[in-house]
Parts: sequence; structure tokens; C-alpha cells
Amino acid sequence: MKVLVTGGAGFIGSHVVDVLIESGHQVSIVDNLWEHGGGRMENVNPEAAFYEIDVRDPALAGVFKEERPEAVCHLAAQHSVKLSTDDPAHDARVNALGMINLLQCCTQFGARKVVFSSSGATYGTVEKMPIDENTPQHPESPYAITKLASEHYLRYWKAAYGLDFTSLRYGNVYGPRQDPTGEAGVIAIFARAILLGEPVRIDWDGEQQKDYVYVRDVARANRLALTRGSGEAYCIATGQGTSVNALYRGLADIVGREVEIIKSPKRPGDIYLSTFNCAKSEKELGWKAETGLEEGLQLTVGYFRNSLNV
Ligand SMILES: NC(=O)c1ccc[n+]([C@@H]2O[C@H](COP(=O)([O-])OP(=O)(O)OC[C@H]3O[C@@H](n4cnc5c(N)ncnc54)[C@H](O)[C@@H]3O)[C@@H](O)[C@H]2O)c1
Repeated sequence: MKVLVTGGAGFIGSHVVDVLIESGHQVSIVDNLWEHGGGRMENVNPEAAFYEIDVRDPALAGVFKEERPEAVCHLAAQHSVKLSTDDPAHDARVNALGMINLLQCCTQFGARKVVFSSSGATYGTVEKMPIDENTPQHPESPYAITKLASEHYLRYWKAAYGLDFTSLRYGNVYGPRQDPTGEAGVIAIFARAILLGEPVRIDWDGEQQKDYVYVRDVARANRLALTRGSGEAYCIATGQGTSVNALYRGLADIVGREVEIIKSPKRPGDIYLSTFNCAKSEKELGWKAETGLEEGLQLTVGYFRNSLNV
């Protein structure tokens, strides 16, 4: 199948590209290598056609005209909760208006389906764990609002123009190529710091748990959703919570080094436990997380060992 991957130079998008190419798909990429994002040319699979274009740019239509994708995996985004609160207008321009430009190109040039990278952040603070697809969504940041708005645009475009979609709501994605200097991505941040012998910061008491899902598993969910999950949303996570303390312990054991731990107060919005029930993904997409945390941490440390040359 001909697939366009937006954000295909980024952390998750580049793994989506790799998995699609390995499965025999013909892939093109649109990514503007945004300075605050995780997009890097070295992440780009050489077998994909690469277009350095902004998803908001009318020139996106030229890519559709040239490539005629049958499906789009849409990952290009302003991906940071913090940046979305600092500059909500930029967040809305990229995440909402960029989505609309993409949808218009899809209908104009006959793409059949969009697989959208949504987020568990769209749920906000929930009353009951684990989260599933029926949990009410109460987004609590501009980023989460534009992700949820995008889910609604997809529903509208399906009803109005017959463009199919699947929304994938990720837990905390981790693995090789994640930006270790960002504000989020605790596994990448810790892995880098421990490998370099630098201190790590642990907020609250470190016992807060989140659901960490390995990036290749997320990429596989994108591949499966190209042909399954019509008009539906799915939680993509593991169902297991892991504490920040346990992540530090696991990574320090793998690297074989302890570093200084700087204790810091609870951050606004931090919650004690966040996990997902992914039964619907298993039943309807045939998807289940396959990479255990220990294996995923090993692979992540291996990647950063190479890239940091330590
Ligand atoms: N990392 C996570 O845990 C997580 C969780 C939930 C959802 N997501 C979503 O998954 C997607 C990928 O996130 P990521 O963590 O790989 O981030 P990332 O920053 O590594 O990837 C996003 C890519 O989009 C590109 N981009 C940004 N603005 C663009 C624009 N205007 N036009 C074209 N390209 C643009 C960036 O250059 C980057 O390559 C995003 O949509 C994000 O919101 C990520």
C-alpha cells in the first residue's frame, strides 16, 4: 500500500516508517524538522521519499498529487504539553489547522484512510482506572484539547466525505530515538543521565506509576490500523503501571551505575496511577504490546550507549 507518514522523521513516526517498509509498504514522509520537536534526518529511512514540508503548508497538496497515498499515518504535531500551555496558538495552528489541511488533501486526492496518533492525555484526570475507550475525555491542556478536536474532525470527515480513520490513544511511549533532553520522556532522560553519570530528578515520592509502551509496539499498531479499526479509537499501552523509582532502578541495573537523585516536589497535574485497558485493541486490531519493560529498557539503553558513544 502507498502510505504517507507525517512526522516520519520524529521519534515514533520514524519507527512507523521502518515497520511499514519492513512489511512491504511504499512510504513517503512529510516532516518540517521543527526545531523543538524530535525530528532528525538521521532517523529517516532511506527507502522512504522525504518531503521537508509543514503540514499547514498548501504545498502539502503537491505531495499528495505526486505520491497519491492510499492511507496516511498522521504523527506530525506540536507534541509538548508544556509548549502548548506556553503558546496555545502555535499548538492549535499545527495540531488543529495542520490536521484540517491534511484532511482536505486526503479528500481532494482520494486517500482512503487516516491513522491518527492521539493521546491518553485527552482523558485528563479520570475517576476510575484503568482507562479504556469508554472513559470520558476531559482534556486538561491545549495539547490534549487539539488532540481531542482532531479526533472529532476525523469523525466529521468520515461522516461528511467517507474518509475512514482510526485514532490511537497512546500511553507513555518510550524507546530508541526519543529525545533525551525534552521535558517529557522520563526513560530517555534517565537513560542518558545514567550513562553520562549525571544526576536524575525524581518528583514527588517517585512511586507515581504510568503505563510505558515500547515504540516498536506502537509502530505495529499503526500498521495494523491501516486495514482494521474503521472509525474507532483504541488505547495503545500495556495495562501495567511502572513507578518512576522502578524505572530508575531498572535503568541503573542495566547500565551498572548509580547516580545522584535530586528530589523535587509533585508537579501540577501529576497523578499517582495511570494505566490502560487495551482489550479492545487486542480484539479488534489484533494488537497487544509484545515488548516487556525489561527488554524495552535494554534496547533503549543500547541505543543511547551507541548514540552517546559511551
Ligand atoms: N511520545 C509519546 O509518549 C506520545 C504519547 C501520545 C501521543 N503522541 C503523539 O505521537 C506523535 C509523535 O510524537 P513523538 O513523541 O514521536 O514526537 P516527535 O517530536 O519526535 O515527532 C513529531 C514530528 O512532527 C514533526 N512536526 C512538528 N511540527 C510539524 C509541522 N508543522 N509540519 C510537519 N511536521 C511537523 C517534527 O519535526 C517531528 O519529527 C505526535 O502526534 C504526538 O502528539 C506521543
